[in-house]
Amino acid sequence: MNIVNARLRGREGLFHIALDGSQIAAINEQPAVVSAAAGDLDAASNLVVAPFVEPHIHLDATLTAGEPAWNMSGTLFEGIERWAERKALVTHEDTKTRAKKTIDMLVDHGIQHVRTHVDVTDPTLAALKAMLEVREETRHLIDLQIVAFPQEGIESYANGRALMEQAVELGADVVGGIPHFENTRDQGVSSIKFLMDLAERTGCLVDVHCDETDDPQSRFLEVLAEEARVRGMGARVTASHTVAMGSYDNAYCSKLFRLLKMSGINFVSCPTESIHLQGRFDSYPKRRGLTRVAEIDRAGMNVCFGQDSIVDPWYPLGNGNILRILEAGLHICHMLGYEDLKRSLDLITDNSARTLHLGERYGLEVNRPANLLILSAPDDYEMIRTQGHALVSVRHGEVLMRRTPASVQRG
Ligand code: FE2
Repeated sequence: MNIVNARLRGREGLFHIALDGSQIAAINEQPAVVSAAAGDLDAASNLVVAPFVEPHIHLDATLTAGEPAWNMSGTLFEGIERWAERKALVTHEDTKTRAKKTIDMLVDHGIQHVRTHVDVTDPTLAALKAMLEVREETRHLIDLQIVAFPQEGIESYANGRALMEQAVELGADVVGGIPHFENTRDQGVSSIKFLMDLAERTGCLVDVHCDETDDPQSRFLEVLAEEARVRGMGARVTASHTVAMGSYDNAYCSKLFRLLKMSGINFVSCPTESIHLQGRFDSYPKRRGLTRVAEIDRAGMNVCFGQDSIVDPWYPLGNGNILRILEAGLHICHMLGYEDLKRSLDLITDNSARTLHLGERYGLEVNRPANLLILSAPDDYEMIRTQGHALVSVRHGEVLMRRTPASVQRG
């Protein structure tokens, strides 16, 4: 199969992309627009990019909002309470059905790589076992990384450490954590040392829910970054949320950034989730409750956007469309300057792939997997401005999804 009349990010002109089975065989400049041969795809002078990436979602919790009760306060902490009630009703099949339904929503919006956090603070590890099966059963649709995520703590939950170890033995790809939720500061610190040891010993990646609170005293990011720096693991470590950074004073943050840069860790921000959950203890002025996305990016560090939730106890909306998250995030993070807009897709493609440590399994280059999207606009700016879509998703050299754009008639 070939894709003709393709625009590529950061390059002038039109391109012809040849796929050979499940690999990209060639990418050549095209002197002029051509008509597509039978069996080929016509990008119609629009962008062709590597697939969108969802770097942070909780597929074991999606599609549960209101079961058995809605989160009325809108806080993260009521979300955890509501989830504890729903968790008691979770079954193997229930988890698999909801996760697969959500994966279909992600696929319909051009996502082919997903990192999901799965709650392992459950003596039976029921959700994890279900998600391990989902990972195998959906390989034709997405590459799924599973994070062993201790929603109710590692040190603060009975047998928390053993459950994390068991989760990795069973097949989790990534070690998670939630230091700001542990009962004490000391437990938060020891949880990070424990999870970094576990990852180092087993070769797992690391992705920690870190400082997901407006409390400016929540400073576990420095602990995670220092552990990553000392062990030389930065490229394999991600700090998710880090929203307390939005409340740190600039003097502390300036010192912190020096360490963050030396550590080489990655960052994920979930802007729609954080703008909804944070700032809940403020009257006015009211904090945005997000990490310093633009500043992290300007400092040359790696940051990307994720959805976090789709219709769960923490966030009642969502439809799988990460472009919606990108648009909201650019607004919320003061990133509507043209320099940011014209490379905005980095935040849901290349930067996210780096966070997931995908290496040569990702990217629009010869000899890499034939996974790509045809978008509905010619560049990043127009994709955002027109609220564009992924129109075609190709995976392993085959069309996985086609979307017909809405058309408008007058009169
Ligand atoms: Fe999360």
